[in-house]
Amino acid sequence: MSKWWQEAIGYQIYPRSFKDTNHDGLGDINGIREKLSYLKELGVDFIWITPIYESPNVDNGYDISDYCAISADFGTMAEFQCLVQEAHDLDIKIIMDLVINHTSNQHYWFQESRKGGDNDYRDFYIWHPPVDGKEPNDWHAIFGGSVWEYDDLRGEYYFHAFAKEQPDLNWDSPAMRQKIFEMIEWWIEQGIDGFRIDAISHIKKDDWHRPFDFADVNGNYKNIEGIDVYLKELSALLKKHQVMSVGEANGVKAEEATAWVGEHGYFDMIFEFEHIDLWRTRNDEGIDLLSFKNALIRWQEALADGRGWNALYMENHDVPRSISAFGNDSLAYRTLSGKALAMTFMLLQGTPFIYQGQEIGMINNQFESIAQIDAVDSINLYESLIETGATIEEAMQVISGTTRDNARTPMQWDASTFAGFSEKEPWLAINENKNWLNVVEEQRNSASIYHFYKQLIALRKENPTFINGKFHYIELNSAHLFCYERKDDQACFTIVVNLGGTEQTCDYLSALQNQEIILANYEEDVTDCLRPYEARLYRK
Ligand code: NOJ
Repeated sequence: MSKWWQEAIGYQIYPRSFKDTNHDGLGDINGIREKLSYLKELGVDFIWITPIYESPNVDNGYDISDYCAISADFGTMAEFQCLVQEAHDLDIKIIMDLVINHTSNQHYWFQESRKGGDNDYRDFYIWHPPVDGKEPNDWHAIFGGSVWEYDDLRGEYYFHAFAKEQPDLNWDSPAMRQKIFEMIEWWIEQGIDGFRIDAISHIKKDDWHRPFDFADVNGNYKNIEGIDVYLKELSALLKKHQVMSVGEANGVKAEEATAWVGEHGYFDMIFEFEHIDLWRTRNDEGIDLLSFKNALIRWQEALADGRGWNALYMENHDVPRSISAFGNDSLAYRTLSGKALAMTFMLLQGTPFIYQGQEIGMINNQFESIAQIDAVDSINLYESLIETGATIEEAMQVISGTTRDNARTPMQWDASTFAGFSEKEPWLAINENKNWLNVVEEQRNSASIYHFYKQLIALRKENPTFINGKFHYIELNSAHLFCYERKDDQACFTIVVNLGGTEQTCDYLSALQNQEIILANYEEDVTDCLRPYEARLYRK
């Protein structure tokens, strides 16, 4: 028997950029409510909403100052309740973002903890006295600078894996864990259906004396031995309430995956980073397709035969748009490439998560000045590039291609001045391509990426083979070609995709000759090669 989330299609909403209804240039809860019918029509079964809690927004909501309050930027608790109700009426479930590796430095717990002494919160964070008048060690933070920040009031350093305004919680403190668990139960009582658990592989840190791992910036505080003790306690709580869980698990390898998502795993699913991280090494020839393919295969095989369940994704709010990162965002190839990527990941075994705008093939933006950038990590990186001698142009070239803001430009609903996202200048500029790349246009054109996604979703829903059928990799003659079968007693489907931009001969196509092509991104088919970004789905 499948679990509901194994048959479901997920959709990630970054509310700030989804739909603004109160004309302040920021998306809001009512915007999500307004678009529920759009999501239903697409075939979405649950939405994951990135943080909408009270926050000073140093890291756009991932720095929470009150876990149980909705930020006024997004609306009110009453509106949130309506969202839950209306989504449920449409059979759409709600997954909230659970940020429990750190809070904001404005959180009451941190403000109290700073006071030291014998107050209840003194050990809620990770404090360390100066060593020889300096930071306790030389570890770097993910968003740049040291992981240690000195606090004048307490006279000690505190640890932060991300920005200095995001102090890490101390998972060794039973009182802290208790408060977090109470908060989790409070959210479950609000009628939500599950959590995406932020940065959860970072909650355990290595011995402070270990040297900094220059090859892997967060290697000293990522998936560290002993983390299982904390995870088991968290997992027991989530399981007790039978809510769906998907952990963000940077640093977890396919070989270890069953401990995280197996029958007795901590979570239902995890977001692994092995394939997604490859965009960072993209060059003029694109990404390393062999490594990309191998990462997908590794995860499929590691969790096969009921050993666990994959979360399938190509985009989120932290990485550039997938067509730009893994494919080809030129006018000539955007649609082909978007469809090829869609077919690649949507028919694997696991639960697909589509990130807002991915279904219409949104692509990266061109950022020309740092003034157009909001993401804290990109601003820090820009400053350090300039400090170390880069020119503004050089620094902007790096930032423009890599910044998370590429994924955060407002959703393009139509071709109006602010893309139907808002009636006011939005918090982050709209991509100039909104005149031709928008939902209205994609819905109008039956050969669009949007319709391709709808077809893939419908196929998953009509054929249980895509849920429980075996994944079988078929090795072909080229690193550019990705070919796999999904097979059970009912049916056998073969997916063949050319991930690259050059034509690839493919002898295997003749073996498929008598099978029906049920979905493809080129109109007429040829039998001996796959054209650039060609994708075909065959049924035996
Ligand atoms: C991962 C989130 O997806 C990202 O947006 C955030 O900046 C970090 N965790 C810190 O919370």
